[in-house]
Amino acid sequence: MRFDIFTLFPEMFEGPLTESIIRRAREAGLVEIRLHNVRHYATDKHRVTDDTPYGGGGGMVMKAEPLFRAVEAVLGLPPRGAGEAVPPPPCPVILLTPQGRPFTQQVAEELSRQTRVALLCGRYEGVDERVREHLATDELSIGPYVLSGGELPAMVIVDAVTRLLPGALGDPEGARRDSFAMGLLEHPHYTRPADFRGWRVPDVLLSGHHGRVAEWRRHEALIRTLVRRPELIAAHTLTQADRAFLRRLVHHVDALLKEADP
Ligand code: ADE
Repeated sequence: MRFDIFTLFPEMFEGPLTESIIRRAREAGLVEIRLHNVRHYATDKHRVTDDTPYGGGGGMVMKAEPLFRAVEAVLGLPPRGAGEAVPPPPCPVILLTPQGRPFTQQVAEELSRQTRVALLCGRYEGVDERVREHLATDELSIGPYVLSGGELPAMVIVDAVTRLLPGALGDPEGARRDSFAMGLLEHPHYTRPADFRGWRVPDVLLSGHHGRVAEWRRHEALIRTLVRRPELIAAHTLTQADRAFLRRLVHHVDALLKEADP
């Protein structure tokens, strides 16, 4: 899979995309990440990429032309203007903006099935509307807050998508087991020592009994999801055993409350 990232700040990507899972995925040839400096595609002497907004008001707006020229050059699209028929771009061209549709695990899975994705990082107070209308094919937001630009969102998306690529994780089952992918939050994790400052690992995890460990994990995941993110529990994803466990839980809670307040 290949990412083409269009940005005014390619240096920001040093670090997050050169460490850990992404570094290994790049080295293994699973993912190729190309950074394109939009400033190089500005045509004027000073390589200006922003300007004041028409209609007045404060702030600066990212100009359309350098972004159009950059994307056209890299994706091999002919330059075009209003009313000109053009071939569709060879891949999704995604503008990162707080106004975009929410980026979720499901969107990450969709993107991981693409062979190529272009990410456009907006900056300043906004991007000329013609980029959104005539260049981008999609818009994504990584959350309901405003960042200084699309660079961090682009890194988040590359990370979430790359770890889904077959072979990217050391443990091939890892991505499938993740919270959200499972539809439930994950159970708690522990590692050595079994007793850390008097806080002990639950006995069942030390029992070596795989069936009981699996059952404990499932129960913990159900309780945790119920308490923190009840909206994630969709009735149809629950097994018979899950239902029986939840009924027992409700029964215990009922009995407890009756005792306190008969
Ligand atoms: N650019 C600025 N804030 C953003 C956000 N929350 N998501 C995507 N792009 C952004």
